[in-house]
Amino acid sequence: MQDLKGLILSGGKGTRLRPITHTSAKQLVPVANKPVLFYGIEAMGQAGIEDVGIIIAPETGEEVKAAAGDGSRFGVKLTYLLQDEPLGLAHAVLTAQEFLSDSPFVMYLGDNLLQGGIADLVAAFRSSEPDALILLTQVPDPEHYGVAELNDGRVVQLVEKPLEPHTDLALVGVYMFTPAVYDAAKSITPSGRGELEITDAIQHMVDGGRRVEPHIVNGWWKDTGRLEDMLAANRLVLDTIDSRIEGELAESQVDGRVVIEPGARLERCAVRGPAVIGAGASLIDCYVGPYTAVGRGCTIENAEVEHSIMLEGAAVRNLAGRMESSLLGRNVTIGRDRRQPRAYRFMVGDNSEIGIL
Ligand code: DAU
Repeated sequence: MQDLKGLILSGGKGTRLRPITHTSAKQLVPVANKPVLFYGIEAMGQAGIEDVGIIIAPETGEEVKAAAGDGSRFGVKLTYLLQDEPLGLAHAVLTAQEFLSDSPFVMYLGDNLLQGGIADLVAAFRSSEPDALILLTQVPDPEHYGVAELNDGRVVQLVEKPLEPHTDLALVGVYMFTPAVYDAAKSITPSGRGELEITDAIQHMVDGGRRVEPHIVNGWWKDTGRLEDMLAANRLVLDTIDSRIEGELAESQVDGRVVIEPGARLERCAVRGPAVIGAGASLIDCYVGPYTAVGRGCTIENAEVEHSIMLEGAAVRNLAGRMESSLLGRNVTIGRDRRQPRAYRFMVGDNSEIGIL
């Protein structure tokens, strides 16, 4: 088989992660302090795929470019491909056709995380040479995904987000294709949500007698489209970290697997891992509980934070109760102040969600 290229989708709108995605690409939201997108790029590099295209959107493309650069630090060469409008995953494939040319390719959705990378799957694709290889996994809520029906190990039917799913086998956001996918993508019409669905394109391949091989994923997989998924992805990745203390600890106690990045300073704090504290963070008189990722330059003072993600520059101060299961955007501050009258004072962006004790 010819050399494989890679295609990572980092366009789209990210509506389900608003307000974070009002100002930032959803693929750059960090999981264990690393943008989700980077896990996909690294997976490509580890599978030996060097030539990788990234679909970007006009609104967030520059930010994605600035974050991932030319790809050299991941061992790949990145080429940015602008998709003018988020018209669907199959539309993104057509947008990349010129770049991909006649190469077979791996498509990786930029907001997906797949344990164990893709090297084994790429090897399976290379050896059995189907027209397409899809990944499937059992989920409790198949109506949120593309759903597959198999018969005797063969793909019979694929439906995008069916109201009444026939199976619990969801399409994972990693696909492998030969150039046969372009004809299929050109033959389908937009779905109810107005998108050219890759699910429909693959169904078109099945109907046309093309060989579509299903692979069941055994490790964990996460689509980080929603807050609870981000927190779950954060948990899964933090569960795999090794301890590394490079910041400064003053009268502080660290238990379990904890990463404290350089320049972070902890004074009279207790950190119970798995947790990661980003570079330059300042933590004073606080408790950080399991499954917390504190971003670069964050502040936590006189407060307790657990099972949460704080993006760069966020601050939490003087809370009477513990903050948990929360996602704070960049430079968000939450705190109690002593001014009168005693009242809640908020300045909060569109579509934010606040839960009060
Ligand atoms: O995560 C797996 C699911 O991904 C599959 O089970 C579904 O069959 C598949 O359609 C897809 O569903 P989503 O609704 O979750 O896709 P989403 O709109 O979130 O887009 C996935 C990624 O592709 C995301 O990183 C944004 C990017 N994207 C999306 C669209 C619609 C683009 O780059 N361009 C686009 O036009």
